Amino acid sequence: MKGVILAGGLGTRLYPLTFATNKHLLPVYNKPMVFYPIQTLVKAGVTEIMVVVSGPHSGDFINVLKNGKEFGVKHLEYAFQEKPNGGIADALALAEDFADNGPITVVLGDNTTDADISSAVKGFKDGAMVFLKEVPDPKRFGVPKFDPKDPKKIIEVIEKPENPPSKYAVTGLYIYDKNVFDYIKQCKPSWRGELEITDVNNFYIKEGKLQWSELNGYWLDAGTFDTLFFANLYWAKKNNPSILQEIKKIIELD
Ligand code: G1P
Repeated sequence: MKGVILAGGLGTRLYPLTFATNKHLLPVYNKPMVFYPIQTLVKAGVTEIMVVVSGPHSGDFINVLKNGKEFGVKHLEYAFQEKPNGGIADALALAEDFADNGPITVVLGDNTTDADISSAVKGFKDGAMVFLKEVPDPKRFGVPKFDPKDPKKIIEVIEKPENPPSKYAVTGLYIYDKNVFDYIKQCKPSWRGELEITDVNNFYIKEGKLQWSELNGYWLDAGTFDTLFFANLYWAKKNNPSILQEIKKIIELD
């Protein structure tokens, strides 16, 4: 299985932090954000990886990731998305040749998790697999709607719904078979002008080929000030439990 990390976009929700660098190179405790999705892939046995970059700071990825050897990556390549606001599906389209008709595991560059997706990666046969996580604010995400007659079956994914049909987010980790590239070609820009990964997932639902599993670990996308801060706090505590005392003291200050 090959892997793709989508690390494009302008990170406008994080201005002014992203004026001088790419969102995925910002620190999450002691590492640049993009290290986390790479580690998720490598832990799942995925060591041939493409990183899709875009925007004015694209060249900086090479200084940070180099050839990936220090993470256990065997082959690292980069693709450049010309429209930084083209959307996740537009960025993924660039991996078609790299995928070479095989399946791919995709992770969004701002998603950090300690979940282990190895068994899903190793057991993947065809169609698509999405990973869900219960969240307090589903409106910010793609949200699955379940069949009232069969509560284990997703009948639609709705991007940023006004009235979320469930309490789950479709996280930014996906496994796709080769059909993903045909579905992307059929996508039209959404209300936010992007080719949406949610539309791709809905193509798989129509074909009866979308599976899901609940992500068994902590998960956060670090795309806003608050979630970037929470991700820092989580990974700080996990890497260095001794700082918890100090964190508690700070929290108790008024
Ligand atoms: C994107 C996807 C959304 C998904 C989220 C996970 O949202 O469009 O479906 O739930 O990533 O991080 P965006 O970050 O583009 O708002």
